[in-house]
Amino acid sequence: MGDEFAAAIETATKQLVAHWRALAAREVPVTPPCEPGFLRTALPSAPPEQAEGLGEMLADTWNVIVPGLTHWQHPAFLGYYPTNNSPASVLAEFVTAGLGVQGMMWSTSPAATELEQLVTDWLAQALGLPEAFRHSSGRGGGVIQDSASSAVLVAIAAALQRASLGRWRSAGTEGRYRMYCTEHAHSCVPKSSRLAGLGEPQLIATLPGTDRMDPEALGARIDTDRKAGLVPAIVIATVGTTNACAVDPVPDIGRLCRQENVWLHVDAAYAGSAALCPEYRHLNDGIALADSYAVNAHKWMRTGTPCDVLWTADRTALTDAMSITPSYLRNPATDSGRVVDFRDWQVPLGRPMRALKLWYVMRAHGVRGLREAIRHDVRLAAQLARLVTAEPGFHLEAHELGLVVFRRDTDEDTRGLISRLQTDPTLLCTPASVNGRPAVRAAFGSPYADADTVHYVWERIRAHAQGPGKLSASGSGRGTV
Ligand SMILES: Cc1ncc(COP(=O)(O)O)c(C=O)c1O
Repeated sequence: MGDEFAAAIETATKQLVAHWRALAAREVPVTPPCEPGFLRTALPSAPPEQAEGLGEMLADTWNVIVPGLTHWQHPAFLGYYPTNNSPASVLAEFVTAGLGVQGMMWSTSPAATELEQLVTDWLAQALGLPEAFRHSSGRGGGVIQDSASSAVLVAIAAALQRASLGRWRSAGTEGRYRMYCTEHAHSCVPKSSRLAGLGEPQLIATLPGTDRMDPEALGARIDTDRKAGLVPAIVIATVGTTNACAVDPVPDIGRLCRQENVWLHVDAAYAGSAALCPEYRHLNDGIALADSYAVNAHKWMRTGTPCDVLWTADRTALTDAMSITPSYLRNPATDSGRVVDFRDWQVPLGRPMRALKLWYVMRAHGVRGLREAIRHDVRLAAQLARLVTAEPGFHLEAHELGLVVFRRDTDEDTRGLISRLQTDPTLLCTPASVNGRPAVRAAFGSPYADADTVHYVWERIRAHAQGPGKLSASGSGRGTV
């Protein structure tokens, strides 16, 4: 087994490196030419009775699976927000898998827990987050979640705990507790609200002409709800909305939440990483007033998914909300109160050692390297924004950090452009809606994108904008447009 494994790893490494090179050279399309159900016809319908060799699995991976993947690391992948990684992160995931550690409690793998405490403190420091969010403060700390969605759910549990002094756990939410956000909050916010039994969140109006929450409207709503006997429990503010990267006025929202004793969770899944750069530190304004804050390292920090980091200034609310200790989870370390058991900071019990990849990534790039990666993407977005602005018939709707959102003169033209882009396998942009009008989003984040990528995607966008059939069936490689 050892020899076969070592040989397979060597092969897989070579295949991956060749794949990364092919992506960088745009030798493969971004999206696959697949019809739903294609894989069923390509693979056996029953599991093998006899053991197969690792080499055969690798071969099938490259022959059958990879051609059916959308390549999120492709330079012309500009959809959604990025989910990027790096060799250091891949290496750490490999080592993590090999070690097979499960760090649900300090005692089940002390180094896994302590490394996570250390690296989330490192990252808090690198991002300039308040001291209270660090484990070293003794009151707060960071924890790696699988997603920004889980971070919201966990924040809701902590908020309910605090708002009800723990009573929600036995009495349920009974329609009494309220959660607030704007319509621009990510879809994971209403989803978590439903899952937590709060129903739909209360949507707060935005400041005129913006996608940013109006703090006065929030204050008025909280007031009305209190008078109606309801319990305002949590506000979700967004730093970098998904549609157009709008930033809610966190300082004003934070002051109000403090005054009203309402939990404030700040979802900075994408934009939060930019605070690594001093010039974007203002994105942290008001964060000291937040009770919890989350950034997806797997979006814009060269760390493979999943790796969301949730920080809280009040770890007791989290653990009081989620800690249940049957006899099989008791141990002297837990009972001593001297350790952190991350099982009480998340929904699942079990947890892989995700801290290793964040540790590798921070060491392999240095904070300086991670900053440079952000600045590089911001420059590419600025390059695209300039091209959009200079082009007759195009309108720049939003341009923030690595995101560019634009539309055509008429909504019909924009919709036509979106649908033609959706049939082009050589680049990926996703649709948006800005001020009620359709728009196209392009978000940079691939480690392989460069100035040439911007020219490439822009020429294709322009050609698609001219109408169907205006694009020659050129290849997807560099300089082919
Ligand atoms: C602002 C924001 N919040 C939350 C999410 C959801 O992230 P996750 O997939 O980690 O749940 C996204 C995803 O793009 C996002 O942009």
